[in-house]
Parts: sequence; C-alpha cells; structure tokens
Amino acid sequence: MNNIRLIKPTLDLKEEFLGMINDWKNHNEKPKPWPINIEPDNLPQMIKRLEGYSRGIGLNENHVENTTYWLIDNNKVIGACNIRHRLNDYLLKYDGHIGGAIRPSERGKGYGTTMLTLAIQKAKELGIDKVLITCNKGNTASEKTIVRNGGVFESEEVEDNGNIVRRFWIK
Ligand SMILES: CC(C)(COP(=O)(O)OP(=O)(O)OC[C@H]1O[C@@H](n2cnc3c(N)ncnc32)[C@H](O)[C@@H]1OP(=O)(O)O)[C@@H](O)C(=O)NCCC(=O)NCCS
Repeated sequence: MNNIRLIKPTLDLKEEFLGMINDWKNHNEKPKPWPINIEPDNLPQMIKRLEGYSRGIGLNENHVENTTYWLIDNNKVIGACNIRHRLNDYLLKYDGHIGGAIRPSERGKGYGTTMLTLAIQKAKELGIDKVLITCNKGNTASEKTIVRNGGVFESEEVEDNGNIVRRFWIK
C-alpha cells in the first residue's frame, strides 16, 4: 500500500482522472464527491477553481474553505476527497469535515478506509483536532471506514428530505 497517496489534482494525471470519471459513468453513477464534477473536461480550469476554494476564493454559497485531493495508487486515480477547513452550522449538523468516494470498480479493496486515514492526517495538518465525519444511515461501507478510523458515534440527524445522517467524531 506504499504508493497510495493523496495528491492535489494535477494535469499530469489528466487521462487517469478522465478514466475515473468514465468509470463512474459506465456504472451509471454520478461522480462523487462534488468537486470532481467541476468542468472535468477542462482540468486547468477545475484546478484553478479548486485552488481558489482552498484559499476561500470563489466559494459556492454557504461553503467554507475546502481542499480537494485525489487518492492515487501508483499513478491510477482511485478516488477523491474534499476536506472542509472548518464547520459551519450545516456542516456541523450534516456533512462534517470530510467527504469522499472511491471509483466504482475499485471499491471493497480497502481504499475507502485508507483514503479516510490519509484525509484525517490532512485535516490534522490544517489544525483540526476533532474531525467530524458523517454518513447516510444504511451506507454500511462508509460507516465501516469511519469506525475503522476511530470514529465515535454521537448522533443521528434528519435532513429536510427525510434522509438520516449518522455523525461520528474522530479525535
Ligand atoms: C463508502 C466508500 C468510500 C467505501 O470505499 P471502499 O473502498 O469500498 O471501502 P473499503 O474497501 O475500505 O471497505 C470498507 C468496508 O465496507 C465493506 N463494504 C464495501 N462495500 C460494501 C457494500 N456495498 N455493502 C456493504 N459493505 C461494503 C467492505 O467489505 C469493508 O468491510 P470488511 O473489511 O468488513 O469487509 C465507497 O463505497 C464509495 O465511494 N461509495 C459511494 C460514495 C459514498 O457513499 N461515499 C461516502 C459518503 S460521503
């Protein structure tokens, strides 16, 4: 697992990134997390916007500063995660500090657990001592990755659409 890393999106892996986007589409799933859908066909523009979000520039409404990483194994882009630098009321209740997803064809191989471990390290580098991670009730794979990384269950919250979110803290 030594070559598994989180990196900032880079033009050097353009074809590999597009391979991940196609993987999602071939499985009839909408690519996640949301930042990988920002102009995937225009990677320079996407990278510029993501760099801005990291510095609080051009943020979407109600968003806080956030940084996106790709999970790579050797040079294959396996998944992506988005780290919110702080919590606002919405994030505290529903979405937490970190969101992430593994491309459909690479799930169930341990990458999700590893990506979260690496993302928690990045969060700590940002000065976040207590990391909030959430998952939808019934998303067994996601909940397992959280608990494996030391997540301690705190509560369930119900979103306006009835979706139940489970909240975990990692110290
Ligand atoms: C959630 C997700 C990131 C997990 O990634 P992953 O690489 O499959 O996770 P891992 O391989 O580390 O597996 C974690 C555990 O979940 C289990 N698991 C994986 N897929 C599963 C599924 N569909 N149903 C039940 N358990 C599952 C694994 O078997 C493993 O448990 P085990 O070791 O006891 O067998 C990935 O499934 C994903 O991207 N899903 C879509 C997006 C999403 O739900 N993101 C999280 C919310 S933001």
